[in-house]
Amino acid sequence: MNVFYDATTIKEHLNELSDKDISTGFVPTMGALHDGHVSLINRAKQEVDQVICSIFVNPLQFNRKEDLENYPNRVKEDTAILEKAECDILFLPDYETMYPKSPDLSFNFGSIAKGMEAKYRPQHFEGVAAVIRRFFEILSPDKAYFGEKDFQQLAIIRWLRDAYNFKTEIVGCKTLRAKNGLALSSRNYLLTEKDLKKAAFIYKTMSFAKENKSSYSPNNLVDICKDKLSKNDFQVDYFSIVDEKTLQEISNWSETESPRVFVAAYLSGVRLIDNISLIH
Ligand code: PAJ
Repeated sequence: MNVFYDATTIKEHLNELSDKDISTGFVPTMGALHDGHVSLINRAKQEVDQVICSIFVNPLQFNRKEDLENYPNRVKEDTAILEKAECDILFLPDYETMYPKSPDLSFNFGSIAKGMEAKYRPQHFEGVAAVIRRFFEILSPDKAYFGEKDFQQLAIIRWLRDAYNFKTEIVGCKTLRAKNGLALSSRNYLLTEKDLKKAAFIYKTMSFAKENKSSYSPNNLVDICKDKLSKNDFQVDYFSIVDEKTLQEISNWSETESPRVFVAAYLSGVRLIDNISLIH
């Protein structure tokens, strides 16, 4: 695996690849890699000639200082995981490489950035958009891979691609889960064994919503599910049922053909997010 730290050197390398018509797929991450990240790399390996993975814990997307400070740092373990996954290129930029001058953080995302993460983490998506815009400028990959685990982020990235006319094709990938349903996440490294078991209750509650949607209105279902989570030691930021395209909350099932449920909740101080389709 080729490891690069600065923009000029990796650009030169990628230009050489593109001169030889070698296609590239990009998997951006913040490290603390797990099988969910590896599933993105595996998908990319099937579709392009060379896979680029980046590890950069982007301060601009953290609205809580504690969250940034507590974010797991495991570059050594991560490098081993990437070698095993046969990733071709690792990009490890520092803050100055990513932000040589302070980036413009004004984006007009529209309805997709009104609720959920956008509401509870002000400036979060501006930070995500700024970092991905910079990555796309440096790397100009043919394809880029993002998980549905961060479904609202995926919508933001598609918006960014269209707004800036990037050539990169955005590929959304299914959420990888543990056997008990818990979505794999870097933040799971911060949970105790006991809490890892408890955390599966998020998936259980979303599944309850899916199985019982014909018996309740969206609002009633939201209230019931929030209550279930609170009674099981979760501090809920939101439990929202929205239209999967607009990401706007619905109050009647007739308002959408593709309802999706989104959750953000704290367990022992660790913020977990997840979502599933209520249809398939
Ligand atoms: P990070 O949380 O490290 O996630 C990197 C990518 O892995 C994202 O596209 C995320 O959706 C995907 N991912 C995480 N858990 C997954 C799972 N269980 N199954 C499938 N995919 C999963 O998301 C970020 O980093 C950052 O915001 C980033 C895009 C790198 C910008 O800084």
